[in-house]
Amino acid sequence: MNASPQLDFDRLRAKGAPDPTPLPGSRKAQPKYPFVMSYPDPGNLPIMEAHAAMGEALAEVGGTTAVYPDTQGYPPLREYIAERLAQRRRMSVDPDDILLTEGSGQAIHFVTEALVDPGDVVIVDHFVYGGTLWSLRRFAADIRGVVSDADGMLPDALEDAISGAVAEGRRPKMIYLIPTFQNPQAWTMPVERRREIVEVAARWGVPILEDDGIAEFRFEGEHVPAVASLDDSGVVMHTGTFSKIVVPGMRIGYLIASRQLLETVMPIKGSRGVTQFGALAVHRFAVTRLDDHLARLNGALRSRRDAMFAALGENMGSAASWSTPEGGLYTWLTMHDGVDLVDAAGAAAERGVTYDQGPNFATGDDPGRNKARLCFSFNTEDEIREGIARLAEEALGPG
Ligand SMILES: Cc1ncc(COP(=O)(O)O)c(C=O)c1O
Repeated sequence: MNASPQLDFDRLRAKGAPDPTPLPGSRKAQPKYPFVMSYPDPGNLPIMEAHAAMGEALAEVGGTTAVYPDTQGYPPLREYIAERLAQRRRMSVDPDDILLTEGSGQAIHFVTEALVDPGDVVIVDHFVYGGTLWSLRRFAADIRGVVSDADGMLPDALEDAISGAVAEGRRPKMIYLIPTFQNPQAWTMPVERRREIVEVAARWGVPILEDDGIAEFRFEGEHVPAVASLDDSGVVMHTGTFSKIVVPGMRIGYLIASRQLLETVMPIKGSRGVTQFGALAVHRFAVTRLDDHLARLNGALRSRRDAMFAALGENMGSAASWSTPEGGLYTWLTMHDGVDLVDAAGAAAERGVTYDQGPNFATGDDPGRNKARLCFSFNTEDEIREGIARLAEEALGPG
């Protein structure tokens, strides 16, 4: 739709509004090897089961006020989340300390809006999920990336980042962490490291936002307790999502935090709840079908992950290294000897291979041009083998 010539929305735009971005428009054809996609492929989504679950829920509560939106989120789903987090993540949560959100992305955005004024310091991993960087930039945070090793963020480096900011008179507002199957680096922080990080954060009085939405995709090894389960000081906020473990289009996630923080977020969210139909469907699906679905999905993901590791080994050999997570949806590729995956991206895309380039996650000195996140969640094993062979040809040259 074209605006009338009398109207110029660029002139009307509020000072605080972000710069416009082009509309995505109609969907372009999906490339054949979209290693950029950090979601299960449609064939592994429980579409018909979610549809049946919604039908069952509506048949049961359709004649009651449960179909009206609930401002904090459908109470039975909040009770379910509290129980599941107690079982799976060792957390002790009151359902009234849970706020349903449109995915965990919205929870991250709300917490950022609640805490961050322009120029406020926020600490993240050097190489971290781009959606969170987008929210932090939206509120003009001073983003400080902290380096990690194979066990995640280094407590000493975190301490240096906090004390450095405090010395500037700018106590950080928040530490954002994805401690399990970190996006994009795919490491998982062991419990001892989690304790050390909580100790540092609590000592300095800097809250942690734990983003735990990928933790249920564990195919081997033991679950590591959530960071929030190790904290009794209230310093850890926690967000999770049903986007990836049920259906992305449901847009149901949650934020768990102190009443004080939730009461700050409520007026940002406004009086509208999240989609009540989505909450009804997710609740019914979760109670009746989630464990079976996850067992199947994790089986599929495991074999795709193994196919990706094998293909990387065959095609990249000593020219690269990659993380070897016990679960999740992706691995983090690092090319050696000056190979530039930003330069290679165009030619790879011509051949149907897309990946998320290192600079999209970078928050520190290393721009990460030799790095990429490769998702194994969306393609079959055969496609993974073909796609990785093509990627290696583009990155390394033929033969
Ligand atoms: C680490 C991480 N956090 C948050 C999100 C946002 O997920 P949601 O669909 O629940 O908003 C994603 C999605 O890819 C993610 O990878």
